[in-house]
Amino acid sequence: MNKVDRDAGEPQAALSWLGMPGLTAYFAMLEVGRPRPGDTVVVSAAGGGVGQLAGQIAKLAGSRVIGISGSDEKLEWCRRIGFDETLNYKTSPSLAEALARLCPEGVNVFFDGTGGAIHDAVMKNLAVAARVAIVGRVAVADNIPGDDIGLRASSRLIQTRAVVQGFVVYDWWHRREEALQRLRNWRSAGRLQFREDVLKGIENVPDAFLRMMRGENRGKQLVAL
Ligand SMILES: NC(=O)c1ccc[n+]([C@@H]2O[C@H](COP(=O)([O-])OP(=O)(O)OC[C@H]3O[C@@H](n4cnc5c(N)ncnc54)[C@H](OP(=O)(O)O)[C@@H]3O)[C@@H](O)[C@H]2O)c1
Repeated sequence: MNKVDRDAGEPQAALSWLGMPGLTAYFAMLEVGRPRPGDTVVVSAAGGGVGQLAGQIAKLAGSRVIGISGSDEKLEWCRRIGFDETLNYKTSPSLAEALARLCPEGVNVFFDGTGGAIHDAVMKNLAVAARVAIVGRVAVADNIPGDDIGLRASSRLIQTRAVVQGFVVYDWWHRREEALQRLRNWRSAGRLQFREDVLKGIENVPDAFLRMMRGENRGKQLVAL
């Protein structure tokens, strides 16, 4: 259980930018992705609760950020909050080729919130010494507990010496306060934007879940009781 600091902002922020999505974006980007000034960073599920923050944190680190989503509306939001470029995986005829055009020097950091075909397309474009944070696999979520089936990236990993690391936010819970303080500082300095998608009433919980799985949520999906 976590105590909510009412002075830190709206209490519901504890479920969004000051909660699991914020901590996931913060630690997976900064500790696994380790973006540097001038790096090219790709974020999948970019318009969602985690992705929108992950992209902004990489921008704060001085990197160039490319967001991938299946919604033009979400991608417009990403550009509004500072993402440099965006790609719609539903309308790009070849995501791998579109990425190659946008990242001729390759992708230095891949923040993967989806797995699946988007993962495969980015893995084909890794730069030497890239860092890949495996955060989510929503694109293959109906394949539980089956294996992910897709590209075997071993030759690309040998060529690039990239590091792929799975991520679980609770491994970083002992450093929660440090992350929350930095997130608060960025937010109060106007350097971190966030949007939530709030439905009202407990009867809307199943709908909220399905909206998220269909990609219809605009920002972090919450239900107000
Ligand atoms: N490892 C951890 O500790 C940890 C912690 C928190 C969250 N996560 C993971 O991080 C990811 C993002 O979480 P979130 O809370 O920010 O969720 P979210 O982005 O609000 O919702 C998931 C998004 O995934 C996209 N999506 C759905 N089906 C897809 C498909 N078949 N192919 C590609 N994209 C698809 C949709 O956006 P589009 O409109 O772009 O398709 C949808 O909005 C999730 O995979 C979640 O499980 C992991």
